[in-house]
Amino acid sequence: MSVPAIAVKNLVKTFGGSTVLHGIDLEIEQGQVSCVIGPSGSGKSTLLRCMAFLEESTKGTIAVNGEVLGFAENAKGVRERVPTAVNRQIRSQIGMVFQQFNLWPHMTALGNVSEALKTVHKMSRRDAEEQAMAQLVKVGLEGRAGHYPSQLSGGQQQRVAIARALALNPKIMLFDEPTSSLDPELTGEVLNVMRDLAAEGMTMVVVSHEIGFAATVGQQIIFLDHGKVLFTGPPQDVFKRPRNPRLEQFLDTYIDRGASMLL
Ligand SMILES: Nc1ncnc2c1ncn2[C@@H]1O[C@H](COP(=O)(O)OP(=O)(O)O)[C@@H](O)[C@H]1O
Ligand SMILES: [Mg+2]
Repeated sequence: MSVPAIAVKNLVKTFGGSTVLHGIDLEIEQGQVSCVIGPSGSGKSTLLRCMAFLEESTKGTIAVNGEVLGFAENAKGVRERVPTAVNRQIRSQIGMVFQQFNLWPHMTALGNVSEALKTVHKMSRRDAEEQAMAQLVKVGLEGRAGHYPSQLSGGQQQRVAIARALALNPKIMLFDEPTSSLDPELTGEVLNVMRDLAAEGMTMVVVSHEIGFAATVGQQIIFLDHGKVLFTGPPQDVFKRPRNPRLEQFLDTYIDRGASMLL
């Protein structure tokens, strides 16, 4: 067995006095799509943010491709911060896409995708733009390279955000509700780009309420509730009965949204 893309062990996260992740254990396999589902406030974003070290964990460890990110912990639970340069190197393997696209409004699509290549990777303008253009082609936006975010639809803006993350050549892509701020008719184009990426073998962790995507593209479903993993397994097992009562209750809310055929 290859080393997991991400191994989460006993991850605890508290904000002030309240614990939002209660000792999460998870493995994200190489080349798989893992979909995180769960009610609002269950800790999905916090889990993803901890995986990318955008948030510091309180306890436990996260290893990316076998390398500990953020804090190492010895057998006695004594924590030690991983050197910043190491954290930076590990984090560079992870790309992230958020619900809000966070594009720079004063830059074109091409500018948004090529910016970090120039400033962080010190690529020449020409090389950066060439690589950025290749990513825009990949998300079907070669014809929109010169457009500013305000001239693009929400779906197109999110595809630019995906291209921007991909341009940095990540080994793992994390998506936090990538279609939740889009009008329903625009979610399909974003999900299709994600589907293509999955078919290429990208390791992906996707927080989404798109249960159809989870059922058809996800290889692992992780159900989070009140900061605990209540279920993890392949989609055919989630959608099979009997289920954990909390999972049952959660999935019931989808029947109203026309997803009954999946359940
Ligand atoms: N920066 C923060 N400070 C305090 N509480 C937070 C912070 N971020 C998230 N929380 C709390 O943690 C819980 C889980 O939030 P979140 O991870 O955003 O859930 P989800 O993404 O599943 O909706 C919520 O109760 C939320 O209010
Ligand atoms: Mg969230």
